[in-house]
Formats: sequence, structure tokens, C-alpha cells
Amino acid sequence: MSATDYKNPHLLLETADLEPGEITWHSPSNLAIVKYWGKHGIQMPKNPSLSLTLSSSFTETLLEYRPRETSETGISLEFFFHEEPNEPFRAKLLKYLESVTDIFPFLRQLDLTIYSGNSFPHSAGIASSASAMSALGLCLCSLEHELFGTLDDDATFDRKASYVSRLGSGSACRSIFPTAALWGETGEVKGSSDLYAVPMGEEVHTVFKHFHDDILIASTAAKSVSSRAGHGLMEGHPFAEPRYADAKRNLNRLILAMRSGDLEEFGRIAENEALTLHGLMMSSNPSFMLLKPNTLEMIERLRQYREETKHPVYFSLDAGPNLHVLYPEDIISDVRGFIEEELKPLCEDETYLQDWAGDGPVQD
Ligand code: DP6
Repeated sequence: MSATDYKNPHLLLETADLEPGEITWHSPSNLAIVKYWGKHGIQMPKNPSLSLTLSSSFTETLLEYRPRETSETGISLEFFFHEEPNEPFRAKLLKYLESVTDIFPFLRQLDLTIYSGNSFPHSAGIASSASAMSALGLCLCSLEHELFGTLDDDATFDRKASYVSRLGSGSACRSIFPTAALWGETGEVKGSSDLYAVPMGEEVHTVFKHFHDDILIASTAAKSVSSRAGHGLMEGHPFAEPRYADAKRNLNRLILAMRSGDLEEFGRIAENEALTLHGLMMSSNPSFMLLKPNTLEMIERLRQYREETKHPVYFSLDAGPNLHVLYPEDIISDVRGFIEEELKPLCEDETYLQDWAGDGPVQD
């Protein structure tokens, strides 16, 4: 199944005699170590990316469905975010659901209500599209399975959930799998694809199964560049082609480092990718500078701490100012002491979130 589009006109309900039901998934965010930045076609990445699946930053989505009362053709959707109706989000989701009706034609036969909420504060500057769109992708696949019994096999289910999550947000396709996931075709990993992510949890050294990612909130005011604008900046970017080649080299080195548990190499790549992402944004037209003075101060302190202690503690960044501090479980008490003493005072409202590599989505 290398190049499927999952279109299936047979997934139609033959009777309106259907019991109403509900499905809930809770799905985590993820942190890309090698970044996806630049896309083409329908949500296809310009380079492969590899992420750690997180735990405490997640979205919980409840999908309610009932047989449709009216015979209109569009999707029937009500949407609540943290218990409140939210029209901008509803409009986005409606557009997404319309775009997947070739895959899930039965969606037009139902009245849908979605209740969604994040475990992290909206203002924390954490991109929620990965957790939100993966939670929804999982709900849609569970709904298909509940109505048609088509996705019995776990690997088949996960692959389809990853595929449809990708259509909502590229990074979301990686959140489906425990510990670590790779999205994008590479000769290094059999079965890898631009269409969905593949699990890497079984392939990586155990040190990454308990890896920490503490998210230091440098600023909640700074709006991260929207993903559509961000990926668009790579079109015509003078460094685009060298960047894609560099990402592929970094990916190959990262896979080796994660298999062998080489933390130094892992950290070098993580920091290089984070700074490259921001370098690309700074040198884009228009240019974006999302790092804040306190982000830079935290990076300096972290590098100095690493130099002094020789502890394998590294950083990454998303398309925003907050610093992700990455380290293995065995140095947690030292690193937390350092964060509390030196980095926390540099955070907005002294806020940081504790996250770690986790077991992936859970159906409630
Ligand atoms: C910097 O997945 O948010 O976080 O596909 O347009 O929804 P869309 O983009 P999105 O981009 C994520 C960019 C990144 C790097 C990464 O997660 O790989």
C-alpha cells in the first residue's frame, strides 16, 4: 500500500436506522528534532522529519454522531472548544471535514458535534495543530471502524489515522505513534512515506523512551508564524534546496544516533535544526524574528551549564520563542534544579511546562 489515497465511495451507510454514539481520543503534541519546514502538493513534505511524541501536552476530542435529520449535502457540524462554541475553529474543521469526504463519505450522512480541549493553556504558545488534528484523525478512523468494521488491524488503523491527520496538519501525522515517529520517505527506513508517518519507538535506544522535554515559556505574546505562512516562506527561499539536502543528512545522522543512544550527536542535530529553522525564518522575505532576548539568554545559560557539568542537556525550538530543554531521565534532579534556579526566572510569569516522551494517543 505505498501510494494509496484512501478514497472509498463504498463507505456509505445503507440505513438511517443507526444508534447515536460517541468516540473520544486523547492525542499528544510532538516535538520535531529534524524539522518539517516547506511543503508541496497536498500536504507533502519537502524533507523527512523525525519527532519525539510528547505526553503532558495533549488534546482531548469527543466526537458525537447521530443519523442526519435533514437531507442537505454539506457536513453538519457543531463545535465546542473548552465547552464554548467557537466559530473560527468550527469553520476550519468544516473545511477539513469537507476535504476528507472522499475518504469518509458517510460523514455527510451524520449530524456531528465535536468537543475539544487542550491540556496546555492556549496562551502557552504551544502549537496545538499536531495534537488537535491527530485526535480528530483518530476519531474519524474509529468512527469508520465502528460503522463499517474496516480497520481491525492496529497497523492499518494507525497508518490511516496518520494519513488523515496529515491532511489536517503535517506535523499531526507524527503524533499517532509512541516515543518517536518519522514522516517522509527515506532510504534509511523501510516503509517510510511522504503520505503518513511510521513508528520509530521500537527502533530507538531505551534512553529516548524516558526522555524529557521541558518547555520554557519565553513569551506568550509573540505570535508564532502561522504554519501556512511559514511553509510558504520556503518557496523561492534562496536557501531552500540546500536546506532540504541538509535536513536529509541530519535525518540520517539522527536515526543512527537515536538507534545507538548517542546523546551528543542527538543534541548537536537538535540544536542545529532548531537554529536553522529560525535562521530560515530570519532570512525569508518577509523576515520573521521569533526569538526573544530571554530565549537567547536561556540558550547561553544552557550551553554554559552543559559545558560546566558535561551533562547531556540540549535544546530545540518550534516556530516560536519558547525553549524546549531536552535531557535523559537519569539527570532529572540536576537539570530540574538548574531550570528552577536559572531558567525559570527568565520565563514569562516564571512558567514552564514539564513534558516527556510518551506512549502516544489513547482512546477513552
Ligand atoms: C516548525 O505541521 O503546523 O513545527 O502542515 O501547515 O499544518 P501544516 O504545518 P505544521 O508545521 C510544523 C512546523 C514545525 C516543525 C515540525 O513540527 O516538524
